[in-house]
Amino acid sequence: MADLNGLELDPQVAAELPDWHDILAYLREPGRPHAVEVLRAADAAGRPAVQPRCGVGGHDRMLALLRELEPAGPGILSLTIDSHTRLRRFDTARALLDGDPADLNGYPLVSHGWRRGRELAEAVAVPLEVRHGSPDGRDLFAVALAAGITSFEGGGIGYNLPYSKNVPLAHSLRAWQQVDALCGVLAESGVVVDRELFGTLTAVLVPPSVSLAVTLLEALAAVAEGVRCLSVAYPQGGEVHQDIAALRAVRSLARRYLGPEVEVFPVLHEFMGVFPRTPDYANLLILQGGLVARLGGATKVINKTVQEAYGIPDAAANAAGIRSAALGASDLLDFVRIDEARVAEELHWIEREVAELVEPVLAAGDLLTGIEAAFRSGRLDIPFSASIHARSLVVPRRDGDGAIRYADAGALPFSGAVLRRQADLLRGAENARPRSLVEAATADIHYFLEKERRSLPGTAHLPLTDDPRSRYR
Ligand code: 5AD
Repeated sequence: MADLNGLELDPQVAAELPDWHDILAYLREPGRPHAVEVLRAADAAGRPAVQPRCGVGGHDRMLALLRELEPAGPGILSLTIDSHTRLRRFDTARALLDGDPADLNGYPLVSHGWRRGRELAEAVAVPLEVRHGSPDGRDLFAVALAAGITSFEGGGIGYNLPYSKNVPLAHSLRAWQQVDALCGVLAESGVVVDRELFGTLTAVLVPPSVSLAVTLLEALAAVAEGVRCLSVAYPQGGEVHQDIAALRAVRSLARRYLGPEVEVFPVLHEFMGVFPRTPDYANLLILQGGLVARLGGATKVINKTVQEAYGIPDAAANAAGIRSAALGASDLLDFVRIDEARVAEELHWIEREVAELVEPVLAAGDLLTGIEAAFRSGRLDIPFSASIHARSLVVPRRDGDGAIRYADAGALPFSGAVLRRQADLLRGAENARPRSLVEAATADIHYFLEKERRSLPGTAHLPLTDDPRSRYR
């Protein structure tokens, strides 16, 4: 293992890097755009910055893609990284790059190298963020920094459990601890890295308190290493009061648990589940995401596109998605008022649930070993985990209004009051429409398909499934 200021690296990756003083000097060059500045400005303006996901294998195509998306007005642009690089299969990514780069599902930054990364960063005026999904993103982080990129997504829980089948939490948590520690070193040199935490998890019916407990624990781990800027992402569930409350809870939980030395920015991931298939209804959901982001006080919203139901979007659809999300957050909709009492009620319970999940872990002593132990026993858990290192005993359901509740909280250490409220909220839904468990889960997952079919003429023939053969033509 080679070493970059405490960050342990693959020796081959390390050998290609410029030395630390060059990296630091480039990051500190006046005029270089940094995500933290965009986030501060968006917060001050009260309108969320919009950011697309975007990444293609070839370097020239990536340059062209960024240039094509920039005029749509994103606050930040992404380098979405390919799956091989995420899993540190740098040789495979390299081989595909030498073959047909279109075979990669994102930009292999490590294989292209930091010089090309700088070329991308210098091609647009807005800052870039590296978005990936690596349980161990250390090499990728080093190359991103050398490329001048100061916004980096991921964390030891959220980039492990949804993506990897068998990476121990001990490994991912300690890899991310090194990433965060280097952010601490950089902060002391005046370079603030925006570390974004992926609260979306498996993206399927994630109860807000599960998402927020995970990101809060990752945030505590990051702050302990010296991180000064955190973007905390939450996935839009679809019930507006619950979503707005969850976004507001990011700030209230940060005030309560994180202390004043770290800036915390809530981020909304526009709906990550099975997406409507018609451009009209998909676009409505994209607009609604922008509106929910603004009402919830989100600093940033990650947009979807009308091609979401069919795979990775092309540049034109992505540009349109950026504009739609921004329009949803624009002043034309400033007349929209929500039921503040209902949001306050949701917020109260979300805060309480998160406290009941997180405080026993904090009381257990060492944070990282406490997180591991809690997942082992199911006292921390996520639904539909891809990983054997979470129990996945939690069963989520939608209530009669579409809010995501706990049908079964598994081994989560909730109080009687929390569990009773969850049961009460779901009882109403079941009485209205008794169904088998499988039917109910399917309906909950395909929630927006049913809404689309009911609202939009000409869609009654569309099956309520996300089978790609059910395309809308
Ligand atoms: N470019 C754009 N979007 C991407 N996604 C995944 N990879 C890319 C990419 N290379 C999007 C999917 C989905 C979400 C999980 O990420 O389309 O919306």
